[in-house]
Amino acid sequence: MAKKSILHMFDPTPNNSPFDINMALDCDFDVLMPYANVKLESVHRLTQDTIFSRSPAGVKQTGIFIGGRDMALAIDMLNTAKQAMVPPFEVSVFADPSGAFTTAAALVACVAKELKTHHNKELKDCKALVFGGTGPVGISTGVIASLAGADTALIDHLSADTAEDIAKEYNRRFGSTLSGDVATFDEDKIALIKDADIIFCTAKAGVQILSANVLSSAQQLKVVGDVNAVPPAGIEGVQLNDSGAPLSQASNSKNTVSVGALAVGNIKYKVQHALLKSMLNSEKPSYIDFRAAYEKAKEILDI
Ligand SMILES: NC(=O)c1ccc[n+]([C@@H]2O[C@H](COP(=O)([O-])OP(=O)(O)OC[C@H]3O[C@@H](n4cnc5c(N)ncnc54)[C@H](OP(=O)(O)O)[C@@H]3O)[C@@H](O)[C@H]2O)c1
Repeated sequence: MAKKSILHMFDPTPNNSPFDINMALDCDFDVLMPYANVKLESVHRLTQDTIFSRSPAGVKQTGIFIGGRDMALAIDMLNTAKQAMVPPFEVSVFADPSGAFTTAAALVACVAKELKTHHNKELKDCKALVFGGTGPVGISTGVIASLAGADTALIDHLSADTAEDIAKEYNRRFGSTLSGDVATFDEDKIALIKDADIIFCTAKAGVQILSANVLSSAQQLKVVGDVNAVPPAGIEGVQLNDSGAPLSQASNSKNTVSVGALAVGNIKYKVQHALLKSMLNSEKPSYIDFRAAYEKAKEILDI
């Protein structure tokens, strides 16, 4: 009898994400097993409970998904699960806390595509700012953009110390070269964006972060990407489906183009779907985090 496929979903927060449960079901997992309030120290035991009860054929039909809201904790949980494997009892593990890895991967890849198409530039040629840069999506966006070579700063809305501490912590963990800064008032934002080439907006949903007036101070802005799908847009003038649409009314820069939340969401969906699918029946188990998500997003966008 064919083995049923199972996804064990470990989550350190009180609730597993319904978004991820829907996504996993649509990827043909037969059984989804959510675990809430999972502590890092439980992951080794839960992983070994997952692997030892199935034959090698069953192991290929078994996966672990790690959720939550914290990028560093999700990576620690993924590494702990990896250390608990006893080949051939080994299953694929996919970390995507709060959808941050797949969303950030899609955002950076969409922006990189428009940068190439409209400005013939690479991320490594650019200075990038991440507004809302200290939340899960913002940190993941910053790390991916920095590792891709962009000179990237995480911008917090309240505290430079918070932004700098987070930048240092993630640089130490992942070898990125992030810096941190603060922008509370429009004057702060105007000063920061003057020489920015790229703006990523990953702030709380439904909050306008950059008005057209603020944006008009940008001198060399090439691409903006906004993941907020709840009105008003995080960046004034960005439309949900923008994929390289001009943002000329809002910036002094020539040919600024924008990427909107649904354009990013479309690629995020495809990335998460493809990576969940890849967990089933693959010959070798894989350990999937923001790096694999970014590679998949680039593959989907053909960049
Ligand atoms: N398009 C897609 O496919 C997709 C997928 C997933 C998520 N999203 C969107 O991605 C965005 C980020 O998600 P998240 O979970 O990382 O969000 P989050 O944790 O709610 O917020 C992100 C950051 O925004 C900051 N923030 C709060 N109020 C602010 C304000 N008034 N001005 C500037 N910054 C402010 C937060 O700071 P504090 O910590 O101080 O509150 C935090 O650092 C959200 O808009 C979400 O809806 C989009």
